[in-house]
Formats: sequence, C-alpha cells, structure tokens
Amino acid sequence: MIELAPSILSADFARLGEQVCAAAEGGGSVIHVDIMDGHFVPNLTIGPPVVRSLRKVTDLPLDCHLMIEHPDEFIPAFAEAGADWISVHQEATRHLDRTLHLIKSRDCLAGVVINPATPVDTLTEVLEIVDYVLVMSVNPGFGAQKFIPSTLHKMRALADIRGHRGLNYRIEVDGGVGLDTVADVVRAGAEILVAGNAVFGHGDPRKNAHELLKAATEAAMQKV
Ligand code: DX5
Ligand code: ZN
Repeated sequence: MIELAPSILSADFARLGEQVCAAAEGGGSVIHVDIMDGHFVPNLTIGPPVVRSLRKVTDLPLDCHLMIEHPDEFIPAFAEAGADWISVHQEATRHLDRTLHLIKSRDCLAGVVINPATPVDTLTEVLEIVDYVLVMSVNPGFGAQKFIPSTLHKMRALADIRGHRGLNYRIEVDGGVGLDTVADVVRAGAEILVAGNAVFGHGDPRKNAHELLKAATEAAMQKV
C-alpha cells in the first residue's frame, strides 16, 4: 500500500494545524516531522513542543525523523509528546541496536535512515528489528532539493532483501519527491512517500497532495 507522508518542513509554521489538515484532506496519511539539531545537519528546526501541538490537531501517525546527534537523549521526550513513529540515522547512532529497542520500548514504530552516501549493507544486522527503513534521496538538512537518482537502487535492494529474508519492514523515501520523480520511487519499491515542497511549497496543499498520491497510486498499479 502506498502512503503519502507530507513533510511539514515546507509548511507555513504560523498556520501549521490548518496546513496539516489540508494535506490530510488531500490524502496524506502520515505526517512527517523533520527534527534537526544544527550539528548532524546544518539546519535547526523544531522539538517536542511542536510535536505535542500537532498531536492535538491530527489523529494521523506522526513520523518523527530525527536528524540529530545523541538521539537516545531525546527519544523519550518525542514519544511522550505524541510521536508514533521515530527514525534515527545510521550515521548518527553509535549503538543502533540499543537505540532501535529504546524506540520500541516507548511503543513507537522504529525506523532507521540512511543518507545518500550510506550503503544498504550497513543495515544488515538491524533489518529484523526495524519497522521501516527510510532512504534519503537528498542530503538531509533542507527542503526543496533535487532528487538524487542514484539512491533508487537502494529502494530496490531493500525490497529484494525483504523478500529473500522474509522480513516485514516498510520502505520510505525522503527528498525531492514530486510529480516528476514519484513514479520512479514507487517502481523502485518505496511505499511511504515523504514530500515537503511538492505538497506545501506552492498553491493548495490539499490539491497538491491529492495529485501526488494519484500519480503514485497509478505508478504502483502499473508496477503490478
Ligand atoms: C530533508 C528532510 C525532508 C524534507 C523533504 O532533510 O528530511 O523530509 O522535508 O523535502 P522535499 O520534499 O521538499 O525534498
Ligand atoms: Zn525527513
């Protein structure tokens, strides 16, 4: 099943509740929340208070993408604020197995993220633990960047490995997903599609989300 995860990074933060609801009406079924610390990535965004406020305006799962160093120190606060899914970067997490279990112990789905330069092989030992794998298709830190096509093979590899090993994780893609790239990521095996600029960057988020999800669903049907 294909799901659209609008990323609030490109939303108008002064009208966040309204914008999230509009994207949900357009078919967004997971709300992607980008957490940046100014160290792991060269940008700063938001913390648990904003997650707590979002929790009040939507029942959709809140997908917290932690682009931060020392994620263990903040996972409990995000879980308490209302996060449903929490993902950490392989590159930022020294004891990945421990961190993924920490996320699960807080009753959240646990995800692991890899940057464009990080191979799928680095996840071999944790694929049985994770609920989802997020493949970055841009270098994290900013919205509205250009999609990096060389990341597509990693989505294909993750789909193949899941089949061979009989695992259940889902495959998420983040960065540069829009009407021009959505068919490629869906054909490569991505099932949860994060989109910030394509949903909130211009015009009506409701209409943008609807069109993007429609294009994704059509590509998924062609794939079968
Ligand atoms: C980038 C973030 C993304 C970002 C994607 O570091 O992780 O979630 O919002 O933005 P777009 O869809 O604009 O490339
Ligand atoms: Zn993200």
